[in-house]
Amino acid sequence: MKIFVTRKIPEPGLNFLRKYHKIEVNPHDRVLSKDEIIQGLKGKDGLLCLLTDIIDAEIIESEPKLKMIANYAVGYNNIDIITATKHKIPISNTPDVLTDATAEMAWALLFSVARRVVEADRFTRQGKFKGWAPMLMHGQDITGKTLGVVGVGRIGSAFALKSKGLKMNILYYDQVKNNEIERKLSAKKVKLDILLKESDFISLHIPLLPSTHHLIDEKQLKIMKKTAILINTSRGPIINETALVKALKNKWIFGAGLDVYEHEPEINKELFKFNNIVLQPHSASATTETRTKMAIMAAENMIVGLKGEIPPNCINTDIFKS
Ligand code: DGY
Repeated sequence: MKIFVTRKIPEPGLNFLRKYHKIEVNPHDRVLSKDEIIQGLKGKDGLLCLLTDIIDAEIIESEPKLKMIANYAVGYNNIDIITATKHKIPISNTPDVLTDATAEMAWALLFSVARRVVEADRFTRQGKFKGWAPMLMHGQDITGKTLGVVGVGRIGSAFALKSKGLKMNILYYDQVKNNEIERKLSAKKVKLDILLKESDFISLHIPLLPSTHHLIDEKQLKIMKKTAILINTSRGPIINETALVKALKNKWIFGAGLDVYEHEPEINKELFKFNNIVLQPHSASATTETRTKMAIMAAENMIVGLKGEIPPNCINTDIFKS
């Protein structure tokens, strides 16, 4: 069968696909336009796409042969699930393999903001370091503080569990109880407002849904501690970026660490003005090991899906029920 891959992914994944199918990979190192995706998809049975591709009804319905969509990401808010499901096209994602890498990035951002690592690096490179000084670059302790984890699915739990050793008080907000972190960390499930009010560090680990869009807005930023640090490695639109700029300007919070943005790849330029914010280019899963595992997993999903079987990481399994 024939597969269209919307952008080059690590070779082991592509080689795996080549063993079973004919593949065509976007030759450019850039995001394709909608028309280019439709063009590339012509005559293909499978679509391997990225979180940067908006796979809407027009794209899905442009190729009647389309039998499988494998997303190279754990998040799948970029795909019109309703339309794919209507046409009985399985959609898969790449969970688990990127859990630790993403949780590690959330910690990297938390440490960077709390200890002003990036700001201090710039300061040092600029030749401003004139010797040890008692008042220089005061940041915040992390050990013993209160950590608020919003969403304790795979990534949120892994993030919370990595706090072991830092003797933190863990609060979490989720719809369901998480027995593992309650048992291992004595984590306490609380309402979102309580978590926002009482946490020193708040990290977001929830999917983007209509109900989570702008979950963190002006009202929520205002109830955080003045010393709070907000971390987002999930999806940008969960935070109202304009409200975040206002919060940083007015010092409602201490700082923020962002890997994702409301209108990616656009970033609110105002954010660049603050020293107390650390910005990453949506690279939380970007380690060689993790991206390779994601590529193999996406290929595996595609190969199984094209056989007419349930892909291991299918997100719309209902289509297989008769
Ligand atoms: C995902 O897979 O959804 C991540 O955002 C990729 O870094």
